[in-house]
Amino acid sequence: MNTSNDILFDSVDLGDETLPNRVGLAPMTRTSATADGRATTEMARYYAKFARGGFSFLITEGTYPDEAYSQGYDDQPGIANDDHVEAWRRVTDAVHDEGAPIVAQLMHAGALSQGNRYTDERLAPSAVRPKGEQLEMYGGSGEFPEPRAATTDDIEDVIEKFVAAAERAVEANFDGVEVHGANGYLLDQFLTTYTNERDDEYGGDVENRIRLTAEVLEAVQAATPDEFVVGVRISQSKVNDPDYRWPGGEDDAEVIFERLTDASADYLHVTEEDVTTPAFESGPTLTELADRYGDVPVIANGALEDPDAARATVAAGADLITLAKGALANPDWPQRVAEDRPLADFDFQRILQPDATIDESEVPEPADADD
Ligand SMILES: Cc1cc2nc3c(=O)[nH]c(=O)nc-3n(C[C@H](O)[C@H](O)[C@H](O)COP(=O)(O)O)c2cc1C
Repeated sequence: MNTSNDILFDSVDLGDETLPNRVGLAPMTRTSATADGRATTEMARYYAKFARGGFSFLITEGTYPDEAYSQGYDDQPGIANDDHVEAWRRVTDAVHDEGAPIVAQLMHAGALSQGNRYTDERLAPSAVRPKGEQLEMYGGSGEFPEPRAATTDDIEDVIEKFVAAAERAVEANFDGVEVHGANGYLLDQFLTTYTNERDDEYGGDVENRIRLTAEVLEAVQAATPDEFVVGVRISQSKVNDPDYRWPGGEDDAEVIFERLTDASADYLHVTEEDVTTPAFESGPTLTELADRYGDVPVIANGALEDPDAARATVAAGADLITLAKGALANPDWPQRVAEDRPLADFDFQRILQPDATIDESEVPEPADADD
């Protein structure tokens, strides 16, 4: 194996860690926790498999931070109480045994919640029913219910709950957290013009609409140890509206990436369906914009399973890349690429149908863990 000339296998720093390559696992909801949100031993084996396959850092599936409005899906894991912490330790231990760091993605579903054991009410910036329909692969169907507009107290509570969840992530031996500001969930509902009709300091221009994400980041950074990584994920497209684009174009990108850098994000994780295409009709990609206007490492995600697309994205300004579907098809993608072995195509039917739950075939036997 000769990876010395391959940009993907350069070592790279993320927080205090030096990673042996630039390829991480993207967050993927698999709705495979217990009904009360505890990560399982199967999940520990599932995550460890990617570390063993050469992924240099792992980001967990979206994990709900509180026992209130944040849960999005039935059987989604939480990090909202001590039982959750204990359960996640199995996962962090298993991944650390394989030598990789693991970051917990903290996700507040807001109006896109379609399964919440704690409440039937939905919280959002404004009482706007989401576009589209609930996701069937996560057990939903039909329209989303109309959410309730968050009060100022609710907003303060959201920030406090993100902080408490990050503190629990430290206890669970995670190496960091990723604040989920992308894909249409609560923080992105604040950033998005048509879901945010507020006339206070959290609504209106883009400076106000990015405020909550920035305040969450600042508060989480302040509450966690220096070496603990605190990143943020940002996208234009949403699970229920793939074609949305920031209406101010590059001017919005400038405000958003500068503000998140000022909020001391340790990285900006940008994601699009295909992150190699221009962010707007023409011109730079979202990766290039994050690199231009942000001042911290950029992680790029979206349609990068072709190694040449991944290399081109690194050459264009990404420090790291993550793979979702490509990793499900090839849990050892980095090793295969390093050894110039063929990659398998992603089979949606086999892996994510009839639902997104982790299949037995994706979980190595415990004995494998000692390979
Ligand atoms: C089954 C599945 C679950 C996902 N769950 C999450 C999630 O929990 N959080 C998140 O930020 N993105 C989630 N995503 C989006 C992926 O992280 C990624 O952005 C998207 O699949 C595009 O990357 P890819 O081309 O490498 O698959 C999910 C994607 C898939 C396929």
